[in-house]
Amino acid sequence: MNRRGFVKAGISAGTAGLLSSLLMGRNLETARAESLSVPARPAGGVIRLNANENPLGIAPSARKAILDGIGEVNRYPFAAAGKFQKQLAEHHGVDEECITLGCGSAEILQIVTQAYATRGALILMADPTFESLVDYARPFPARLQKVPLRSDHSHDIPKMRDLADKHPGPVLVYICNPNNPTGTITDCPEIEEWIKAAPADVTFFIDEAYYQFVKDPRYFSFVDRAAKTDNVIVAHTFSKVYAMAGMRQGYSISTPKITSRLADYATGNAVNHLAVVAASASLRDTDFLKESLAANGVSRNILLGTLGWLKIEHLPTEANFVMFRLKGGIVEFNKRMADENILVGRPFPPMEDHCRITLGLESEMDTFCAKLRDFREKGWV
Ligand SMILES: Cc1ncc(COP(=O)(O)O)c(C=O)c1O
Repeated sequence: MNRRGFVKAGISAGTAGLLSSLLMGRNLETARAESLSVPARPAGGVIRLNANENPLGIAPSARKAILDGIGEVNRYPFAAAGKFQKQLAEHHGVDEECITLGCGSAEILQIVTQAYATRGALILMADPTFESLVDYARPFPARLQKVPLRSDHSHDIPKMRDLADKHPGPVLVYICNPNNPTGTITDCPEIEEWIKAAPADVTFFIDEAYYQFVKDPRYFSFVDRAAKTDNVIVAHTFSKVYAMAGMRQGYSISTPKITSRLADYATGNAVNHLAVVAASASLRDTDFLKESLAANGVSRNILLGTLGWLKIEHLPTEANFVMFRLKGGIVEFNKRMADENILVGRPFPPMEDHCRITLGLESEMDTFCAKLRDFREKGWV
């Protein structure tokens, strides 16, 4: 199923119950707790808006799958992993041989880096973007070059293309779309045009960790292309829209030829049974997907409303987080919010005059926005 089909999947009974609760005037959190009997979060404690996690908690279907699966954890996960690989392939309409499972998409990022950071190779990535490749590439002989985002915070495709054209050896181009930490997207046709024109030794690694959140109709996933051409690899994760960050399940899509190249760098044993069964249940759970996106939309509106009201400049978001401009630096703002038991994003150089805030629960956004208004009165934002 492609992204649009995935997002448009129908409203079933669970979601209908949730929506009728919402229509009766309950907020999303209360409605969810009532309709699914799953606590939204433990009472009290800090509000964690710092790691782009999904605050809803995992899907009830995933919770059930974990409990049902515990009796199997004395066995190796090969059978469940194989079934899940098949399910993912069917979901995306690609061959099973196109799927590589990873312990989170972090493992996929590591595998791809190791496979491509060869002597004489160049790794191109945006600045700022998700930084893991920098760490994963460190022990390897490839050269890594960062290319500043354009003024609209999209990847500077012409600049990256120029650098790739001038490099005499193989090139790995990492494109995080939507981009973390900015939440912005890069024009997909522009990327596609480069992919079509690029020589065989330029490989595009497209990290779509947040693709389900995108609303811009011009956006599309590169899964179809990754399954067909040897120069594209796409990474996906269950940590974000499916709220499974603590479970660690990611995967990539690439041609069978590239998949077998990646296999040389994977343990093959990094998947765990409970993560696989939870991810498998989540993937079938279109109600949860809708709910996750709806909750994200409600929280986004609360935050954008407050940022607009306070006239705080912010980037257009296509993900589950928003980057907004600060009056001072992020280190001080981060500490001030931490003093209020609210964790916000860390510094993301060179954008140290911005804060990245994850969209939490509705009540959490209300609390955060109230604090922002307080900070305004104190002259801090
Ligand atoms: C863009 C991007 N890619 C990959 C990851 C790694 O996610 P995980 O290893 O949880 O799948 C993250 C985590 O925040 C991310 O933001």
